[in-house]
Amino acid sequence: MHSDPRACAHNPSDALATRAEAAGLFEYWDEHWRRFGFGYYVVRRLARAGPLGFCGVKFMTFRERRILNLFYRLDPAAWGDGIAGEAAEAVVGWTTRHLPGYPVVARVRPENVASQRVAVRAGLVRAEALDGRGLDGFDRIYLTSW
Ligand SMILES: CC(C)(COP(=O)(O)OP(=O)(O)OC[C@H]1O[C@@H](n2cnc3c(N)ncnc32)[C@H](O)[C@@H]1OP(=O)(O)O)[C@@H](O)C(=O)NCCC(=O)NCCS
Repeated sequence: MHSDPRACAHNPSDALATRAEAAGLFEYWDEHWRRFGFGYYVVRRLARAGPLGFCGVKFMTFRERRILNLFYRLDPAAWGDGIAGEAAEAVVGWTTRHLPGYPVVARVRPENVASQRVAVRAGLVRAEALDGRGLDGFDRIYLTSW
């Protein structure tokens, strides 16, 4: 998924080219799970084996504040079924119950309309005043609170 150009079209800095890079990313994500007990989940259908993608939150520093970065990426074969919206809603609901002190933030490229729709479905609202330069260019900011 992380080496599929369609799934990284808006975030080319996330694209992986080798198995070693994938192992490195897994280590990085898993380290967060070990330290904090939450992180980026695998998304799958209950009745079916095999991952459809990823969705979750991880701590990061944004505008000098500790926030929960909301992330989602699905296999293009699974797009368009409302799965990302359902997953993101569940994750944000979990943060409201378990980590209420931290803003949940999605940083989305302006052209990535599907991702913006997912952020809104998950309950995030646009925070234009915080828009700015990200790793892959200009980011629109969506968040739960500030
Ligand atoms: C963003 C992503 C997770 C959305 O996955 P998905 O399962 O297709 O999302 P959903 O089916 O829940 O649809 C979300 C909304 O986007 C809309 N949408 C989907 N594709 C769209 C497109 N190409 N253009 C405009 N709107 C689109 C849907 O109609 C839906 O709108 P609604 O909430 O008003 O009904 C998926 O496109 C993806 O993995 N993209 C690559 C990774 C990525 O960009 N991640 C986000 C980085 S910020």
